[in-house]
Amino acid sequence: MPHILAPSLLSADFAELRTAVELIEEGPAGWHHLDVMDGVFVPNISFGLPVIKAIRKYAKKPFDVHLMIVRPDPYIGAFRDAGADNLTVHYEACTHLHRSIQAIKAAGMKAGVALNPHTPIAHLEDVLADIDVVCLMSVNPGFGGQAFIERTFAKITALKALREKTGSKALIEIDGGVGMNNAKRLVDAGADVLVAGNSVFGAKEPRRAMEELAGLG
Ligand code: DX5
Ligand code: ZN
Repeated sequence: MPHILAPSLLSADFAELRTAVELIEEGPAGWHHLDVMDGVFVPNISFGLPVIKAIRKYAKKPFDVHLMIVRPDPYIGAFRDAGADNLTVHYEACTHLHRSIQAIKAAGMKAGVALNPHTPIAHLEDVLADIDVVCLMSVNPGFGGQAFIERTFAKITALKALREKTGSKALIEIDGGVGMNNAKRLVDAGADVLVAGNSVFGAKEPRRAMEELAGLG
């Protein structure tokens, strides 16, 4: 299966979000990646429900919504209504992760679970079969444009082994510091989804950057 490119709107010009969404729609990317931050789980605040709802009408491709918030459970239905297709919660933010995953799926979305760089893959063993997307954070969440953490490669290997062991079909998504310097290696290592913020919207020619990251050259 060819990998999916998911440009992150976090690095787009927020005054021109609609233009950024349309750019993603026209290009080879598979998903839009939307980073929701609450200033508590991560040391930054981005955007939330009304913004997602406002831009949803300009998109046909799936919205991959990454919640970097504490206590996501009360908002699951609201994110579905705002237009999320995939909803990713953080392992570190969910006391009852199994329940959160079931609630996301019951609301009609694909369930994603993100792991911070310090969280071992092994912690997912008992829920991996229920997860649609595992988002491996390859930076500490909160900001775009940070340096990629190389240890992520070892986590991809461990996740592939656990996926095999548990019979899970979860996609492996890599989020943070992805660019043309590591994209091909990540896909070769087993990444199914590449999130890219700065390397797309910080590029001189975002359209071309998307083509390179989707086609890997
Ligand atoms: C970081 C976010 C990422 C971010 C990635 O907390 O989860 O999705 O937008 O940005 P880059 O690709 O610039 O590292
Ligand atoms: Zn993200």
